[in-house]
Amino acid sequence: MNILLINGSPKGIKSNTYRLAKAFMEGMSDAVQVDCEELTVRDLDIKPCLGCFGCWKSAEGKCVIHDDMTAVLEKMLWADVVIWSFGLYFFNVPSKLKALIDRQLPLSLPFMVSDSESGSHPARYDMSGKRHVVISTCGFFTSEGNYGSVNTMFDHFLGKGQYETVYCAQGELFRVPELHERTDEYLSYVRSAGAEFIGRGISTETREKLQTLLYPREVFEEMADASWGVEKSTGTQSDASLSFTRQMAALYNKNSYTGKDKVLEMCYTDEGKTYQILMKRDGYEVIEDHVHPYTTRIETPLTVWRDIAAGKISGVEAMAKKLYRVEGDFDMMLHWDQYFGGGSAGTVKPAEAKSGEKGTTMLLMLLPWIALWVGVSIDSRIGSLVTVGVCGLLQLLFACNRRTVYDGLSSAAAIGFSLAALLMPETVNLLLPVSYLAFGLMWCVSCLFKVPLTAWYSMKDYNGDSAMQNPLFVRTNRILTLAWGVLYVLTAVWTYFLMGSEISSYIALINNIVPIAMGIFTKWFENWYPAHFAAK
Ligand SMILES: Cc1cc2nc3c(=O)[nH]c(=O)nc-3n(C[C@H](O)[C@H](O)[C@H](O)COP(=O)(O)O)c2cc1C
Repeated sequence: MNILLINGSPKGIKSNTYRLAKAFMEGMSDAVQVDCEELTVRDLDIKPCLGCFGCWKSAEGKCVIHDDMTAVLEKMLWADVVIWSFGLYFFNVPSKLKALIDRQLPLSLPFMVSDSESGSHPARYDMSGKRHVVISTCGFFTSEGNYGSVNTMFDHFLGKGQYETVYCAQGELFRVPELHERTDEYLSYVRSAGAEFIGRGISTETREKLQTLLYPREVFEEMADASWGVEKSTGTQSDASLSFTRQMAALYNKNSYTGKDKVLEMCYTDEGKTYQILMKRDGYEVIEDHVHPYTTRIETPLTVWRDIAAGKISGVEAMAKKLYRVEGDFDMMLHWDQYFGGGSAGTVKPAEAKSGEKGTTMLLMLLPWIALWVGVSIDSRIGSLVTVGVCGLLQLLFACNRRTVYDGLSSAAAIGFSLAALLMPETVNLLLPVSYLAFGLMWCVSCLFKVPLTAWYSMKDYNGDSAMQNPLFVRTNRILTLAWGVLYVLTAVWTYFLMGSEISSYIALINNIVPIAMGIFTKWFENWYPAHFAAK
């Protein structure tokens, strides 16, 4: 299949729209074998039509102007699919593309036909079976209401309903590296549209995704206004760090509000400037005099923070290289995407929803053990049966929860210990410490793997599976998992020795108080450790 991409943007390959057109073309080549040709209108010698009708007066339909348009027309006849790609210029196509469109006159015959209300001319060549796609970005927040003239023009020369369209607003965002996550997501939908176009046509689902705004109107417009680096009120040049802070602030997602105003203080060490972003229930404010006590303060060169925002270096990697430091509440760093995700597509994306998968729950891993330890120490026979029952019932809960290997291991181990207690009740005094040992070893051994045990259960609060790319998250969890593992190995030891002693009746109490203390430590450590690391 021959595909011709006509890139009509004056920016050439730096065009925003060209990215979409390329993605669409890649989608087509995912679906079928294609032969692609690209024409960059900016670089072609295409003179404006002289209006002499010379092409209509000659029987061969030859234009009197000798320039690159001859080759363009040949390519158009060669193509099975023509992609028209351009940015919207004053509600129509850029001028040089308009010249190319005018110069298609030789493709028509001069005679009048009465198959349309406003009049038309028949095609000189057999154009049946040729398909056209019009792909365009525009600068306003929405494409709605902006493409009237474009549609009217293409309706006339391609035929109403005879071509496919992909119109995307907020087009300038495609060139902003800091927003690549959202724009890449959009481009992936365009790619799917390309593949579907070749088959049964673009699906309703893909079409809906293509019509969803990149960012909500107010987020986009505030980012756009800040991007010019010119003060809105005075028209004077604003400094780079202030304009960057404003663009970052525009992405503040007010749906992440936790009930308390927060102040993010950005101190740009290379620029010697400090600005604050006041994050409120109903929006944000960028404060130029740092008057508020900060919740979180980031000391960074502007260049580093720009690189992080653009995805050139990960925040964690930059932190590990000591390129910036953080003071105050570290929670904002851990949940950065929730605070500054911009509410893309008009919605908040909770961390769990982002991964698009079922969540894990540690309680489901702990329940078999709790049932075993409580039940068997009260009555070995009934306790064992209850534990087996609990393990059976738990399987139902995995329909709406993601099962980890530790969930499976815990149920299997608890059933094993219960059966042993049922068949050999006289060994209960040994079985309980051994079960603590097994539990503790499970935690310790998990530290040898890429994902330590606690990380499986806490990643949902830290951007889902992507948390595993964060070495600080993994390291924090490895330390905590080891600490819990060692605690339970020790629990096994003291339970074994205390069982035969005078204070054996206190074992249950001790074995409950110690994990509570460890739980409090865990809560503190998971915030303290990353913050301590960042403050260095
Ligand atoms: C001269 C000029 C006129 C424009 N006219 C419009 C317009 O009428 N409506 C609109 O939404 N955007 C308009 N824009 C914004 C462009 O459509 C937008 O920046 C687009 O993403 C450019 O695409 P490109 O990079 O593929 O050329 C205009 C831009 C320029 C430079």
